[in-house]
Amino acid sequence: MTFDAIDVIRTKRDGGALRPDQIRWVIDAYTRGAVPDEQVSALLMAVFFRGLDADELAVWTRAMTDSGERKDLSALGRPTADKHSTGGVGDKTTLPLAPLVAACGVAVPQLSGRGLGHTGGTLDKLESIPGWRASLTDAEYVRQLREVGAVICAAGDDLAPADRKLYALRDVTGTVESIPLIASSIMSKKIAEGAGALVLDVKTGSGAFMKEPDASRELARTMVGLGEAAGVRTVALVTAMDRPLGRAAGNAVEVAESVEVLAGGGPADLVELTLALAREMLAGAGRDDVDPADALRDGRAMDVWRRMITAQGGDPDAPLPSPAEKHVVTAPATGTLTRLDAYAVGIAAWRLGAGRARKEDPVSAAAGVVWAAGVGERVTAGQPLLELHTDDPDRIPRALEALDGAVGVDTDDVPLPLVLDRITAS
Ligand code: URA
Repeated sequence: MTFDAIDVIRTKRDGGALRPDQIRWVIDAYTRGAVPDEQVSALLMAVFFRGLDADELAVWTRAMTDSGERKDLSALGRPTADKHSTGGVGDKTTLPLAPLVAACGVAVPQLSGRGLGHTGGTLDKLESIPGWRASLTDAEYVRQLREVGAVICAAGDDLAPADRKLYALRDVTGTVESIPLIASSIMSKKIAEGAGALVLDVKTGSGAFMKEPDASRELARTMVGLGEAAGVRTVALVTAMDRPLGRAAGNAVEVAESVEVLAGGGPADLVELTLALAREMLAGAGRDDVDPADALRDGRAMDVWRRMITAQGGDPDAPLPSPAEKHVVTAPATGTLTRLDAYAVGIAAWRLGAGRARKEDPVSAAAGVVWAAGVGERVTAGQPLLELHTDDPDRIPRALEALDGAVGVDTDDVPLPLVLDRITAS
């Protein structure tokens, strides 16, 4: 059936509810190029202001999922689970998590993206490993899932193609920050990926998409509802992003830190969050009898990591790229580090070359920020606190500008708990 795009726009503009057949038509027609950007821009702005009710959102998300292929992983003969993070600074949990969960008997099919703005992309991080490639054919993807149990690779063109067009349009029309549009964008891709269980890590704080815990909770609830409605067991953790996670933000530095976790070490907050997410993924896949901490301790997770990297052409033993220049920032006072602002650290890492401004830009594997102490730890005036890594020393002054006011000792900032909330379908 064909509709008039103007009627669809007017209905939403005036606060009405769109009918299921209107939603299916407009998503499909836009994906095929039969409705132009200017009309869908107007519709997105109307959705931004008027929202979508639960029924509209379920149909909208389903239409986006159905714009491409929904993978069927049932032939694997093993439970499957995946994790999605809404994005944060130093958030490298996918890297240790995928091999860890696979080592516990649950396959992890992770189709991932590149970073844009101040939060890094998983593929950018992994590409700092010499030889590693993000693109796999369908046959390679399935073989690796069967033989290794974990894959992190680039999403193909057929994964929710409606989202690719809609996201690009939202990016240039000021309509990114809308809970129904974010939720449908993320969940259409995750549902299409075909995993049986999904854990969402919804970040909150300065370095996150959603700065306020209540908005993050609402996004989490919305996404959990969409996942469950599509038959995917879905749980969300709302987690802290007022400070960066772990001790490093960038590409190679985050891979190095992930390998430390897989070797049984690593920063306490990163280990805690990785294990919390692993437990949720295992429980969602029906394996809550397994303790993932054992697989970290006894080296099984590291074995899967090495096989996962090797299967995609990477050399897990090759030295990671190191920066041409390092610049040290010292602690301003003696006391407890009470502030290390996630957004500021993310912008600094980005300005040092770790991230991109436009999606075609290259990223530097060696650029990033490493910190010697985390929030809540003691520091001494003058001790090295932050280390800025870059290939281009001219980038350092702008990175330092981003860090102005980002560090606080004995201030009255109250850090968020690492895990603020756990949201399940009610
Ligand atoms: N990530 C997505 O995939 N989509 C959004 O809309 C926001 C973050």
